[in-house]
Amino acid sequence: MINFREEIINILQGNIENLDRDDIDKKIEIPPNYDLGDFAFPVFSLAKVYRKSPALIAEELAGKLKSKYFEKIENKNAYLNFFINKNILAEEVLKESVSKKDEFGKVNYGEGKNAIVEYSSTNIAKPFHIGHIRSTVIGDSLKRIYKFLGYNVIAINHLGDYGTQFGMLIYAYKKWGSKEKIENNPIDELLKLYVKVNEEAENSKEVKDECRYWFKELENGNEEAVEIWKWFKDVSLKEFNRVYDMLDIEFDSYNGESFYSDKMPALIENFRAIKVLEESEGAEIINLEDYDLPPAIVVKSDGTTIYLTRDLAAAKYRHETYRPYKNIYVVGSQQSLHFKQLKAALKKAGFDWYDEIVHVAFGMVSLEDGTLSTRRGKVLYLEDVLNKATDKVREILNERENEQGIKIENKDELSQVVGIGAIKFQELFNGRIKDYVFDWDKTLSFEGETGPYVQYVHARISSLLKKGQFDLNNEFDSSLLNSEAEINIIRSLYNFTNVVIDAHEKYEPYFITRYVVELAKNFNKYYNQTTILVDDEILKNSRLVLCYSVKNVIAQALYLLGIKAPEKM
Ligand code: ARG
Repeated sequence: MINFREEIINILQGNIENLDRDDIDKKIEIPPNYDLGDFAFPVFSLAKVYRKSPALIAEELAGKLKSKYFEKIENKNAYLNFFINKNILAEEVLKESVSKKDEFGKVNYGEGKNAIVEYSSTNIAKPFHIGHIRSTVIGDSLKRIYKFLGYNVIAINHLGDYGTQFGMLIYAYKKWGSKEKIENNPIDELLKLYVKVNEEAENSKEVKDECRYWFKELENGNEEAVEIWKWFKDVSLKEFNRVYDMLDIEFDSYNGESFYSDKMPALIENFRAIKVLEESEGAEIINLEDYDLPPAIVVKSDGTTIYLTRDLAAAKYRHETYRPYKNIYVVGSQQSLHFKQLKAALKKAGFDWYDEIVHVAFGMVSLEDGTLSTRRGKVLYLEDVLNKATDKVREILNERENEQGIKIENKDELSQVVGIGAIKFQELFNGRIKDYVFDWDKTLSFEGETGPYVQYVHARISSLLKKGQFDLNNEFDSSLLNSEAEINIIRSLYNFTNVVIDAHEKYEPYFITRYVVELAKNFNKYYNQTTILVDDEILKNSRLVLCYSVKNVIAQALYLLGIKAPEKM
């Protein structure tokens, strides 16, 4: 497809001496509305070279620049405004859509590059609760976005399967636990044990010591400790995988914290050898004063390691194994300091690749009736939220069946696709850094800016294509698509790839969410004001090709958000 941006760079370069392509590219803007063209170029920077006022330069250039790809190049104040030739645009977009079909918009932007996306990273023996939804859903979307752009993605679930809490749990299990109870209801039972042992340890040095002892044994490979710990892990993962299946989320690796336990000693030795470790109250630390950060504790005074030690080993392992272009961590903003320390410590240790690490932070999610708490055992399981969403959609569909006297096919499957899709959509609707309050009614509404609404528009187009017996081989004429509504839609389609590129650069899936809502709304408006299935065959086919293109882009955009696009609704 023609890259209109490139064309602007070409004609500017052809007319202005000594202009750098990358420099022009960076300066090209997308105006706030189409009255100011599809692209704008500010000429301020040329004033020095020309020794004229920017307004005058813009005027002169506007008179001189010519290209068949732009129907108008105007000067306004100190800007050049470029208006794309709409016939060429329509022809290009539709040609591309017909040849690429449901792969429309895909590019090999990241070819040959590895990108690691680490997300979800749930904690063994703890609930997979609503608070995990953010990392899980944002991370999965980033994975899909990077893949779409041609990167080779490695999706990692950095399981929280190590640390002193496992010493506590082993002790608690041996003292109060029941194998049978845990088999039947793993997470609840393990959580009960965890709460109990925490309470006991608070008042008893003896219990505390026992817990520490069992963690040490685990680190030293004591058979009994390892076996119990492995079993905790197995039963927990079985629970988590049920949720991942519901969410249609997969990982390439479940290498969590424990995976690095045998990789830490060499790293620590190396740190000692290069003298980056300092002694501090019996512990070994990396001093990060130069970076205005608190010290990174690498080895505690009792000889054990901590969360950060494991992350140091993990970062190094990932670097050596994957040579990634980016190693992305989708983790809440409460851990911003941790990731700053991680990067600074790696830098200080002389690992010049430290910059491949990107912390994609996000704010908190809370419920209408208050925040989420994990400590007290009062938790909202993500699985229950997903089931509730599915049930609520089923109720809505039941009502619709009764009211309209119809029978909806695959009602169970559809309820899940719409219910879970709605939750993901809501999750990905705002910039990730903002906190937000989870709202059932807003999430599940079939109107407004919601997942069900977009899915509904998609299904509507599907049935329209069927009704119109759309066939890709039918003759059509893109120049017939020249109404304002049609041109608007075509412009959006043209912009799809750029939106995805922006989303990946800023690690913000919500760019795509907003984009797809806008496209769906524009399409709906068009659909309501235009008869698509007209008698004139060529006009009908041309309009249907447009509908087909919109359907593919909606489906693809939803896919990038991890949401399915039903054919019928
Ligand atoms: N398991 C951790 C938690 O639930 C998140 C892990 C984040 N990833 C990392 N490499 N530190 O808080």
